[in-house]
Amino acid sequence: MPSATYDHYPAPFPEDAPVVDLPKFSLTKILQADEETAETLFQVCCNEGFFYIDLTTEPLGLKFLEEGQGLHHVGKESFEDNALDVKKAYHCAGADEDGKAKTLEFFSISRDGLLLDRDNYALPPWLSKDEELYKSFLKNANIVALAMLSIFEKKLHLDPGALTNIHQTKDWSGCFLRFLHYPAPKEGKPLEKVPGPAHTDAGSITMLFNWQGGLQITKTGEFEGHYYGEDADKKTDNWLFVKPEPGHVIVNLGEAISILTNGKLKAGKHRVVTPPGPQGRFPRFSVIATNRPANDTLMKSLKSDVIPPETEKQLHEEPIDALQWSINKVAAIVNRAASD
Ligand SMILES: [Fe+2]
Repeated sequence: MPSATYDHYPAPFPEDAPVVDLPKFSLTKILQADEETAETLFQVCCNEGFFYIDLTTEPLGLKFLEEGQGLHHVGKESFEDNALDVKKAYHCAGADEDGKAKTLEFFSISRDGLLLDRDNYALPPWLSKDEELYKSFLKNANIVALAMLSIFEKKLHLDPGALTNIHQTKDWSGCFLRFLHYPAPKEGKPLEKVPGPAHTDAGSITMLFNWQGGLQITKTGEFEGHYYGEDADKKTDNWLFVKPEPGHVIVNLGEAISILTNGKLKAGKHRVVTPPGPQGRFPRFSVIATNRPANDTLMKSLKSDVIPPETEKQLHEEPIDALQWSINKVAAIVNRAASD
């Protein structure tokens, strides 16, 4: 694994930046399904859908944390050292003609490719040297996600396995690990055009490692469904920073889990802006792990006495599977971005 000695925090988070006070949950208590933790976690996920997990309480969490820091190093080297043709050959989106990103560049590593289709999934040499790191990180992310999904099953009065069985690493799912790079704007002046426009994630659970501010969410109760694009940023001026906390991973729910629970669990709307204060003078690198339902999952609501019943309209809709749903979603985002 690469050294994690790089200074992940290049400047302090400014004390006067407006921040949201999100709950912090102990990984140990999530893994144990501690009742008080489970109830609070469930309530948070029925509202803002954003929280921290303290990874330092558990050996598994410390390993996951160390892997996240190692991936920061991989991402930083990959973005800074590779020329445009090298980046483009690996579907690195967002780099300009000179190989440098103006606002955001990113690339992903497929969990299916690494864990299920290794014979046909080729990483370029500049990534393949750390393959074991990616595999372990993705497996650990799934262990943490399954612990939360197990809690949701109980709180939603679903049968054991209703959610956990459709989020297994043995199944094709479109899950990935993603590296993101937000270059420092000139003189650290915040960019007017938001580099990561407001949106909700497609999957069930997203886990984010970041070491500078930039991620923002709105206050509870402002969720209005799916967004993507500039318009969404203008819908509210109540954006607050999610302050990176050492030893913690930031977690949010996505649209898939919201659909499977007919809106009972909420996808957390968010955006990414220039890091606040002196942090804005430095490039921002982040790493995310996604957890999505298996490709053959029907994207319709599960049923229980806690999940809201489907409407007449929903009952007559022909459900599509998670693979087709995610294809449709990407197409909608591309179309929307093209029209903005
Ligand atoms: Fe996102």
